[in-house]
Amino acid sequence: MYISSLTLQSFRNYDKERIEFSPRTNVIFGDNAQGKTNILEAIYMFAQGKSHRAHTDKELIAFGKHFAKIGIEFHDADRDYSGLMQLNRGGKKSIKINHVQIKKLSMLMNYLNVVMFSPEDLDLVKGSPTNRRRFIDSAVSQLNPPYLVNLIDYHKALVQKNSLLKELRRKGRQSDMTLSVWNEQLAEAGVKIMKYRREFLESLNLFAADIQKEISGEELKISYAPNIHGEVTADEFYNLLEANQKREIELTSAVLGVQRDDMTITVNGREARVYGSQGQQRTAALSAKIAQADYIESIKDEYPVLLLDDIMSELDVRRRLYLAEKIRDKQVFITCTDTDLIDSTDDTRLFHIEGGKAECI
Ligand SMILES: Nc1ncnc2c1ncn2[C@@H]1O[C@H](COP(=O)(O)OP(=O)(O)OP(=O)(O)O)[C@@H](O)[C@H]1O
Ligand SMILES: [Mg+2]
Repeated sequence: MYISSLTLQSFRNYDKERIEFSPRTNVIFGDNAQGKTNILEAIYMFAQGKSHRAHTDKELIAFGKHFAKIGIEFHDADRDYSGLMQLNRGGKKSIKINHVQIKKLSMLMNYLNVVMFSPEDLDLVKGSPTNRRRFIDSAVSQLNPPYLVNLIDYHKALVQKNSLLKELRRKGRQSDMTLSVWNEQLAEAGVKIMKYRREFLESLNLFAADIQKEISGEELKISYAPNIHGEVTADEFYNLLEANQKREIELTSAVLGVQRDDMTITVNGREARVYGSQGQQRTAALSAKIAQADYIESIKDEYPVLLLDDIMSELDVRRRLYLAEKIRDKQVFITCTDTDLIDSTDDTRLFHIEGGKAECI
């Protein structure tokens, strides 16, 4: 899968710009704050329907403008696609692919697959469980739109439950019927979420283990660490929550459930978060991210487009070489402030970015 062109209008610091890409390596370089990440963000936005860093679509519209447009042409083995997304300051965004309106964001994800990799991803292993859940959620929902629906349902019920727990605590209650209603909804969505997460991590583990072996010769193992152990049914999940009503009211917090899930990453049999050196932690994170792309390929039969934001300078020579070899025949976008660390080939296209203007050199 590759992207042949991107057209931006009033997007971040781009006024009007059309860029034609190489189907292989695209190096986007320039000084800080010139608009390099903005290009990756526009691509990610079209692929995922949301920005990887902004909280609202409005942030992406150029200051003082009412709307922004992202035009994108991309291709897979079977078809050519021409996409257009318009972000509106006053309302919802509209999306078209080959002139057909895409009504649901979950439908958009069927078209362009990307994997974004930024320096924060290298903290996947040593960072907090929230980081790791975000990684899992973003990877799973990209391929399984129903998963996102389950997550949203779960989160809504959780917010309601948490505010009810506070109220019950204030009133000095030890159990409540409405609490059971939320627990039922949490159990129903929760078991589905757990099933998706388990299956994803089992596949990811196989790819990541091979990658780590090739980079450093080490044994990597990634496994699901659910807060509620075992492969429980919705009834068992519910019963567990119900049995903990008193405790959760006392703590005024929902302490059981998928909001506390994690993944365990071991290198040579020891937990990398606790015992790994910085290098081992980073290699494991790199392996997990590359494995995400391999996993997408195994499901979609198309290798996703890779977006590497400022990542090259963060890797040592060995890891850089491995990555370069791995992406040799794939489309990749690499941002950097200088091009010293990039091995150019005939297929590499370089773009110099300055003040929201891209110049192909
Ligand atoms: N809504 C917006 N309208 C206009 N300009 C914006 C908007 N949002 C951000 N910018 C500008 O975009 C620029 C930042 O772009 P970007 O994040 O792509 O930089 P970068 O080249 O990746 O820099 P770095 O090397 O520091 O990561 C800044 O100059 C910022 O002022
Ligand atoms: Mg940047």
